[in-house]
Amino acid sequence: MSILIRGGTVVTAEGTLDADVLIVGEKIAAVLARGSATDAATFAAAGAAADAEPDADVLIDAIGKYVIPGGIDGHTHMEMPFGGTFSADTFETGTKAAAWGGTTTIVDFAVQAKGTSLLATLDKWHEKADGNCAIDYGFHMIVSDVNEQSLKEMSACVGAGVTSFKMFMAYPGVFYATDGEILLAMQQASRSGATIMMHAENGIAIDQLVAQAIAAGHTDPVYHGLTRPPELEGEATSRAITLARVADCPLYIVHLSAAHALAAVAAARDAGQNVFAETCPQYLYLSLDDLARPDFEGAKFVASPPLRTPDHSAALWRGLRTNDLSIVSTDHCPFCFKEQKELGRGDFSKIPNGMPGVEHRMDLLHQGVVAGEITLSRWVETCATTPARMFGLYPRKGVIAAGADADVVVYDPAAKQTLSAATHHMNVDYSAYEGMEITGKVDVTISRGRVVVADGEFRGAAGQGTFLPRDLNQYLL
Ligand code: URP
Ligand code: ZN
Ligand code: ZN
Repeated sequence: MSILIRGGTVVTAEGTLDADVLIVGEKIAAVLARGSATDAATFAAAGAAADAEPDADVLIDAIGKYVIPGGIDGHTHMEMPFGGTFSADTFETGTKAAAWGGTTTIVDFAVQAKGTSLLATLDKWHEKADGNCAIDYGFHMIVSDVNEQSLKEMSACVGAGVTSFKMFMAYPGVFYATDGEILLAMQQASRSGATIMMHAENGIAIDQLVAQAIAAGHTDPVYHGLTRPPELEGEATSRAITLARVADCPLYIVHLSAAHALAAVAAARDAGQNVFAETCPQYLYLSLDDLARPDFEGAKFVASPPLRTPDHSAALWRGLRTNDLSIVSTDHCPFCFKEQKELGRGDFSKIPNGMPGVEHRMDLLHQGVVAGEITLSRWVETCATTPARMFGLYPRKGVIAAGADADVVVYDPAAKQTLSAATHHMNVDYSAYEGMEITGKVDVTISRGRVVVADGEFRGAAGQGTFLPRDLNQYLL
């Protein structure tokens, strides 16, 4: 099976190129000077099977379109247990929605429950995901119980292709780890070359603010934001950086939302420490005002860290330009408004934390290109190429080059669409971006050489995605 994508502008992290892309089987066979793939000799020389026709089995016209590497969303939560419920997307529905939006790889989080082992957790997450994903997937591991056994099992996880471990400075009594536990896990990660990912909010202080707010009768969703001030994200981020420095461990700050935290990351990077950070579209486009929407509608926007004021968003765009923020992930963790967010009516602290977004990351960041916040190449770099390197998948993923997996998106930069729960494919009853008008749309998504989205139809299938054992973070020397 061969596919020729003809006439498009190939966008990579390095720049743009007018070129045709030839796919043979599951791999990119060649990136060819535009038009040169029309004669049989060139076509065969580029790696097509001897019996392949000069015109590929499938011809995709990409004139006027971008041809980009499939997006890699390094932070999703499918079927995640949280707050007495589960995030609403299964691995099947969530990966299909991802493909609709031009994402061809997710890295999801296996969640260690207290009292259970990391390896048993990994098995459990394989049971959930294997055979159900429509695109390729890997796992990070959430370590919520630091003890002798789980520390030992971290290196076995690395051997099984799970090379990053998330820990929490927030959520006391649930996922929270003490500074001592974090230090131990960082020392262990350092020994096996793994990266510690940190949810950096000072949960102990936040819990006091939450208790005070509830006692004062402040129960609306906006208090979720007001009780998690940006200073407490900045403080936790600095503390995590210090602990990582002491343990000599690579650190990746997840879902960074506050200028205070960004300043801490930038200072550590300037000092040469292996500190990396991601932000998410919700922190670029939404704000505390959304959390303050009336009639409990603010609950749709409850996630941690919380949405901030627009000055933070401006700082995050700057951080994306300067590479102090290397990656945009979604932290996709959808809970339905009607049945799940409802659990916190009358007490914002009981609203399940998380927002949907896996389908819209590529489109939302393309708006950053349209608005002049980032370049086209930076769009591809932050959404595909850097995640591939950070999560040990490069050059198999994240790049349009001969030999890479044929995860390719044809993106129409001129198409218009309006985001809405009525048209999205995520298994959740609201859109955080309802009514937002977008310039640009995915035309075709190809996952390992198979067309999974084209002509406004889903053509893939659950089970076509394979598990990706990951190497170590490729930014480390
Ligand atoms: O509110 C959030 N972010 N929910 C998902 C879990 C996490 O902390 O990433
Ligand atoms: Zn988190
Ligand atoms: Zn998350």
